[in-house]
Amino acid sequence: MTVLDDFSNGKMAHLEVLRGHPALTIVRGDITRREDVDSAIQGCSTLIHLAVLCLRESIKSPHRITNMIVDGTLNCLESALESGTELFVNCSSSEAYGSAVYVPMDEKHPLNPETPYAAAKVAQDMFVRSYGATYQLPWVTIRPFNMYGPNSHWQGFRGELIPKMIVRAMNLQPLIIFGDGEQRRDFLYVEDAARAVVEIAATQKARGQCVNFCTGNETPVRHIAELVCREFNLDAERYIQYQDARPGDVRRHYGDVSLFKSLLGFEPSVTLEQGIKKTVEWFKSLPYAPEELLLQEVLRNWE
Ligand SMILES: NC(=O)c1ccc[n+]([C@@H]2O[C@H](COP(=O)([O-])OP(=O)(O)OC[C@H]3O[C@@H](n4cnc5c(N)ncnc54)[C@H](O)[C@@H]3O)[C@@H](O)[C@H]2O)c1
Repeated sequence: MTVLDDFSNGKMAHLEVLRGHPALTIVRGDITRREDVDSAIQGCSTLIHLAVLCLRESIKSPHRITNMIVDGTLNCLESALESGTELFVNCSSSEAYGSAVYVPMDEKHPLNPETPYAAAKVAQDMFVRSYGATYQLPWVTIRPFNMYGPNSHWQGFRGELIPKMIVRAMNLQPLIIFGDGEQRRDFLYVEDAARAVVEIAATQKARGQCVNFCTGNETPVRHIAELVCREFNLDAERYIQYQDARPGDVRRHYGDVSLFKSLLGFEPSVTLEQGIKKTVEWFKSLPYAPEELLLQEVLRNWE
């Protein structure tokens, strides 16, 4: 197995547990450079395309994100085609759907992207589909909703909801919700998501389909803040505070899990409560003082 990453956002330290494994090669490279993809893909039968820059950055730098997502995907597709790759696993995002027109959102839900990031992810998915139709490149698209867990980002514009809240709670700082806290998401623990990626790649019936990766449970962001408060014995009434909504923030994301279940028999092995506890434990195990973590956290991180 080869991992290609430019480590612009990912960390080599997160691969430490795998380093030294005889079957693993780690390559530092950029998917927007065709030659980097061509050299990494040698000897691989499946390409799993996960590389991305984050949604918040797309609000500030739409050109940069679009270039990375669209041109990077085209390089991966071209390289996969030319090297005779047997399967292209494309990682999309539920952001492609935009705010829910109906719930639960199944794979036929209209694609109404509300941010440049989401628009670029739709383009990514359409290119993958087109390479299947035009060049018969075998593909499957996975469409994760919200994934979270250890190794998630809290720093700067990369910071995500759950890690940012944990870092603030560790420092006895208010947990800020942008909007009324009633915006809803479907959270899947990272280990369940990773297991499902491997399983879907092995599932013939999934080929040529787009499959939601979700739990089928919707959770208001306010409830996430309450669970984080509970982990730190903080009074939620006092510590949860509200500010104006983030631009383009979708209201409701709650996935229909039927296809995911029927293809993989998927059941999450980690509940939201357990997943938040595990994520808190991971943060507590980091070799940094809480105040060092807080220094890297930026509250309004899309501006
Ligand atoms: N995290 C979520 O909640 C979520 C939800 C829906 C979809 N997704 C999708 O899942 C996939 C993985 O997302 P993630 O949350 O793990 O993101 P992440 O930022 O943790 O991982 C993305 C990786 O891509 C690398 N990368 C960025 N630009 C690159 C480039 N030009 N060349 C090579 N590598 C590059 C980064 O260094 C990073 O390691 C993405 O396709 C994303 O759209 C994530």
